[in-house]
Amino acid sequence: MTDTDDDGDLEARLVEQESFEPAEEFVSQANVSDEAIYEEFEENWPHSWTRAADLLDWEREYSEVLDDSNEPFYEWFPDGTLNASYNCVDRHVENGDKNRVAIKWEGEHGETRTYTYQDLYREVNEFAAALRDLGVEEDDVVTLYMPMVPELPIAMLACARIGAPHSVVFAGFSADALATRMNSADSRYLVTCDGYYRRGDALDHLQKANEGLAGVDHGVDATVVADRLGDDGFGHDLKGNQHAWDDLMDDHQGDRVDPVERNAEDMLFLMYTSGTTGQPKGVKHTTGGYLAYTAWTSHAVLDLEPEDTYWCSADIGWITGHSYIVYGPLALGTTTVMYEGTPDFPERDRLWEIIEKYAVDVFYTAPTAIRAFMKWGSQFPERHDLSSLRLLGTVGEPINPRAWKWYYQHIGNEECPIVDTWWQTETGGMMVTTLPGVCTMKPGSAGPPLPGIDARVVDTSGDEVDAGRAGYLTVEKPWPGMLRTLYNNDERFIEEYWAEYSDPDADEWVYFPEDGAKIDEDGYITILGRVDDVINVSGHRLGTMEIESAIVGVEGVAEAAVVGGEHEVKGEAVYAYAILEDGYDGDDEMRDRIVAGVEDAIGPIARPQQVIFTPELPKTRSGKIMRRLLEEIANEEELGDTTTLRNPEIVEEIQNKVE
Ligand code: WT7
Repeated sequence: MTDTDDDGDLEARLVEQESFEPAEEFVSQANVSDEAIYEEFEENWPHSWTRAADLLDWEREYSEVLDDSNEPFYEWFPDGTLNASYNCVDRHVENGDKNRVAIKWEGEHGETRTYTYQDLYREVNEFAAALRDLGVEEDDVVTLYMPMVPELPIAMLACARIGAPHSVVFAGFSADALATRMNSADSRYLVTCDGYYRRGDALDHLQKANEGLAGVDHGVDATVVADRLGDDGFGHDLKGNQHAWDDLMDDHQGDRVDPVERNAEDMLFLMYTSGTTGQPKGVKHTTGGYLAYTAWTSHAVLDLEPEDTYWCSADIGWITGHSYIVYGPLALGTTTVMYEGTPDFPERDRLWEIIEKYAVDVFYTAPTAIRAFMKWGSQFPERHDLSSLRLLGTVGEPINPRAWKWYYQHIGNEECPIVDTWWQTETGGMMVTTLPGVCTMKPGSAGPPLPGIDARVVDTSGDEVDAGRAGYLTVEKPWPGMLRTLYNNDERFIEEYWAEYSDPDADEWVYFPEDGAKIDEDGYITILGRVDDVINVSGHRLGTMEIESAIVGVEGVAEAAVVGGEHEVKGEAVYAYAILEDGYDGDDEMRDRIVAGVEDAIGPIARPQQVIFTPELPKTRSGKIMRRLLEEIANEEELGDTTTLRNPEIVEEIQNKVE
């Protein structure tokens, strides 16, 4: 992202300022305000991680913090047992907080639902009983294909209660994407929803779910359908093994299910994410390490207290929502806000209206949203009283200094620290960010690694680079929230994350997140973006291979290459280059078919911004597509070296076609 001059009403004095101190008022109340914590973690590592584990109630205390006898298959708190649903629900009820609000839900039309911890306890138990009754057993993977309705976290916690890992599939993904994930996880149970609202329209979600089910290779034992639309529904009849959520809850009214004692290393959930191949990766997270890590980072970085009203505007269909709408905040007994709709419905002040209405204390969002807010202008937040806010956060992609400062001035009133949190689906929780009660903030830079996190910036041979130089981000010690493997694919797990920088003969295991980064004299890390064939659209990870295989699946397309081009709001947008078979024209109809092909295979989020038809792609003499060049063309940048091309003349031809 480049900083442009037309993006807002940022105060001139802030433009030049390079660092910011957290306000004394914030520091004096912060959960963590002593910088000694960095040293403490280092000196006592890995024992220091008991600090995170101590935030949980264990059924059987662990006697060992880390078992690293089978690297890189690390085990955390391996002989401890616990239940995540118990930790997020029951214990708050037992501790006298049953009337505290757990979830405040707001629908797009402004309707609200409030669940106290007691309400959540009741619903989670009843749904856990219903799942059992449908035949779900411990370790069965239950797929949850649901929009932002309260039934989603209830279903997640019900799964956790009976020890059935969930696999949440983002509701915006297509039927094909649902089928791929159910097939990969061998999942025989689906919980879904009739539909939901988007910018005023009711969307038919069940139709899509049913199409997806038709593509599941194995038998599906049962589907549960929650009712979101009521009379606005599309009137699909439920089939033989499909059950209405409300009927099941009626049947199990008052039922209680004892939380199953899970080993710390037992799987809590699977989350599919894009990689460099066409096949999404099933990232496996476990019960003890993941829950301890999300609770700890919610405490130390988001500064959450049980009294807080906290809002993360992500979708639960992504890891951000798992870790920081559901598990972290609920483990701490906080009130977590859920909003169904978009930020611009009915007007562009919707988020600020919600913050004012619920007196939100801590707000966590994505840079892409902030760039949209900036474009819309500060008059929208100015309509509302945002003085309840104490802390702001961002996640998903780099935030440019100008957007950071706009957020700081117009949303935080220059009083709220901002945490720019770098992490990934695979890391489970935040890894590189300032501690808001301790650190100076430098807009544009995420900050130092969290205590206990050994993140470094290295060159291609694994040596640390000098301050100011670009290199690759690595993590050289394990941490409790890390993925344990890729589902059913230990080999790919090692290949994707450990092969690059580890030296197995020397027993040195280094995690490689596939991000470029640089580090400054103070150890602050600035993330430069992905170095693999993954693009980041509005903070969501998309594999170029997945999109390419969708495009070549369209009749008449011979070859395709997809790259990310810069986009003012989305960060990156999809640029698709397509070569057609003889007899096909690169006309509007072809373009529409390609766009539809991508939407069917993945979902609207992957829709190409531009489709560029070309007779050839720039290739090296060995026949590899030169993606760097395609990126430069998409970004209208000056082109780098083209001398190694087999077909240099094609470059100008393509350049002329990009709008
Ligand atoms: C990729 C992970 C973590 C939840 C959302 C995305 C990029 C994430 C930042 C940040 C710069 C960031 C990285 C990372 N990323 N946070 N604060 N600054 N880049 O999860 O889909 O697993 O994507 O998002 O490139 O590798 P994800």
